[in-house]
Amino acid sequence: MRLLTIETTCDETAAAVVDDSLRVLGSVVASQDELHAAYDGVVPEIAARAHLERILPVIEQTLARSETRPSEIDAIAVATRPGLAGSLLVGLVAAKTLAWLWNRPLIEVDHLRAHIYACRIAAGRDLFPCVGFVVSGGHTHLFRCDSPLDFTTLGATIDDAAGEAFDKVASMLGLPYPGGAPLARLAERGKRDAYRLPRPLLDETRLDFSFSGLKTAVRYAIAGPGGTPDATRLPDEGTRADLAASFQEAEVDCLVGKSIAACRRTGLSRLCVGGGVAANRRFRERLERSCREEGIELHVAPLDWCTDNAVMGSLGFESLRAGQTAPLDLDVVPGLVRR
Ligand code: KG4
Ligand code: ZN
Repeated sequence: MRLLTIETTCDETAAAVVDDSLRVLGSVVASQDELHAAYDGVVPEIAARAHLERILPVIEQTLARSETRPSEIDAIAVATRPGLAGSLLVGLVAAKTLAWLWNRPLIEVDHLRAHIYACRIAAGRDLFPCVGFVVSGGHTHLFRCDSPLDFTTLGATIDDAAGEAFDKVASMLGLPYPGGAPLARLAERGKRDAYRLPRPLLDETRLDFSFSGLKTAVRYAIAGPGGTPDATRLPDEGTRADLAASFQEAEVDCLVGKSIAACRRTGLSRLCVGGGVAANRRFRERLERSCREEGIELHVAPLDWCTDNAVMGSLGFESLRAGQTAPLDLDVVPGLVRR
């Protein structure tokens, strides 16, 4: 059985063909980073229009790469929540049209659950129940995951997402967008304790996150109290590396601290982590060490499946098996519904 999955929640246009033993037959991801770099962030209208141009070529290429004819596709899964409305609509219209044309079931995929499912695909075995942690450009979300389709929110960011904070601090340090990976590279040359930066909410019992105060602390460290960094007069390379390392360490402290607290609180001893920030090497190292100390089984999505991709949409097979197919008048759900 073969599933075509489509992903257009933010700024990656992606499709994949996966079989029911979760073997990836073909996967294509068209990134839009270069279109948004000039604005230091994703511009929703530009993202939607780029999806519109790319969606059919990406699907066509995916079918070719997976040597799959349309008649061999048994169902179509599409990420419909959460994400940018215009971006989601492009993927959904494409999926609906193919479902109608090929007379195949349409399946709705929750993008955050799919980020966790990336760990399940990589492990090749059932990982539920577990604590799920999505750390991406748009989300910082801790879940209790009783099954692939049954998630309860334990905590989330109350302001910036983990990746968003990386991107904004990277921009202050004169790094290109998206800044997470370049900032992590710069941090390798810096001292992690060079600056004393806040760890917001870390000592509180709630499992929520806040990164805007940390981001502002970096801004003031660069430009003085109340100041705004001036791209033409940035600190020298060594100072920037120290700032990057100190910021990364503060954010990683919060991410690791809260995810371990979530395991303790729920009594679950398995942690699955996905989303773009899960590609961060320091975060992975620190998580591995803490999980080892706490006796927690850790699964972090492989690098290719941390950032947005359509392979993780093979979560659609779980819905199909549960008899959950979607009607052709399905709509998107851009905002987060706290469950
Ligand atoms: O999951 P993703 O592709 O998109 C969303 O669903 O948001 O995540 C992209 C985010 C960006 O903020 C990017 O800067 C961040 O992941 N990122 C990283 C690293 N690689 C990507 N952040 C920190 N360290 C990295 N190595
Ligand atoms: Zn994502």
